[in-house]
Amino acid sequence: MIQAPKGTFDVLPDDAARRELIEAQIRRTLGAAGYRRIETPTFESTELFARGVGEATDIVQKEMYTFDDGGGRSLTLRPEGTAPVCRAYIEHGMHKLPQPVKLWYLSSFFRAEAPQRGRYRQFWQVGAEAIGSETPETDAELIVLLADLLDALGVRGLTLKLSSLGTPETRAEYREELKAYLRAHESGLSPEVVGRIDLNPMRAFDATERRTRETMTGAPKLLDCLMPEDAEHFAQVRSLLDAAGIRYELDSTLVRGLDYYTRTVFEFMSDALGGAQSTVGGGGRYDRLIEQLEGPPTPASGWAAGIERIMLASEQRNPAPELVDLFVALSVRDGVQGAFELTYQARRAGLQAQLELAGRSLKGQLKHADRLGARYVAIVGENGQASLRNMQSGEQLETELQNVIPTILRSSRL
Ligand code: HAM
Repeated sequence: MIQAPKGTFDVLPDDAARRELIEAQIRRTLGAAGYRRIETPTFESTELFARGVGEATDIVQKEMYTFDDGGGRSLTLRPEGTAPVCRAYIEHGMHKLPQPVKLWYLSSFFRAEAPQRGRYRQFWQVGAEAIGSETPETDAELIVLLADLLDALGVRGLTLKLSSLGTPETRAEYREELKAYLRAHESGLSPEVVGRIDLNPMRAFDATERRTRETMTGAPKLLDCLMPEDAEHFAQVRSLLDAAGIRYELDSTLVRGLDYYTRTVFEFMSDALGGAQSTVGGGGRYDRLIEQLEGPPTPASGWAAGIERIMLASEQRNPAPELVDLFVALSVRDGVQGAFELTYQARRAGLQAQLELAGRSLKGQLKHADRLGARYVAIVGENGQASLRNMQSGEQLETELQNVIPTILRSSRL
């Protein structure tokens, strides 16, 4: 048996119906704030992600599905949406539009990660990007929008982690300061952490060993090293969130898996997900990305949230089943033409109509119509005759085929 590739899944009809409800909520929440939909191609030139997401990130180093297009050009299935949206912003001269340009997307993304619950190789994200504004209110508004969206979708057990990364220059200086601290306190750190001082000093904050954790409480924090204008920007974001009643935890060790961030960064975690994959959505400001992609210097901010993780962390709400107004059954094979026509005419008249397609016995057809919850069944006979049965009352009307639709429409209006 041929199966779907590891880390991928089928969206079956019940699942698709739930996703449609999620999409409708996304449209409402983001549409109300003036965000408009954008969709970019499923694959892009590899260089876009190498430059945009960062050569040194896990995503670019290990997780991209990259292939040759047959003509010597390297293409990659998109692992994320921010770099493509920025590419589109530059390519279509969107800097000429009133700023910021507020965009959202709902698309599938691809990362060659080890699959587990909440982590797939093809997954869906909803994302929002506000390009062309550096104001703190843009960041705060984006965070409120994601909080409102997750709340409207019934995501449980949420915590918001918030930090600011300042500029790349601040981070480089901070890194040296942290390395100096770690070297000066090697005796209070586990050998593993000591071995990683040069490679990735920030990882020391994730250590679980007691002695190391104690040593790290005295380590310098990035948030304390921000330049005055970055610190002021962050203070404003915080005060807007406070005013909006959004609770957050400051986490000065928050690192995101993408290199483009500057200033504000955040993540929404849900304890309903548990374990390593507890991040439902995250994002932040990326003031230098557009310039890195050869566009005009343009500040921007945004987020993305995983649809499958939203579904895992929210109450299972089964969408209402489809309504069927009319099921068209056949009592004799000769009636097929009339039945076929009745079905599509009913749909054109605005009714939800289904035709018997499986060659069931009349008894089987009535049982099937009942299972579908059909309001009416028309049993089509010979010579343009039909019996129209009201499935609720059991009443049956013998009539001509042409009277079936008007009868149902009249009863619907009562
Ligand atoms: P990200 O944190 O890499 O950010 O991904 C955002 C969300 O996508 C995650 O929080 C998670 O819910 C979901 N996600 C990521 N990888 C997987 C996976 N393998 N399986 C299932 N879900 C996954 C970004 O992608 C940035 N582009 C967000 C952003 C937008 N920053 C600024 N603007």
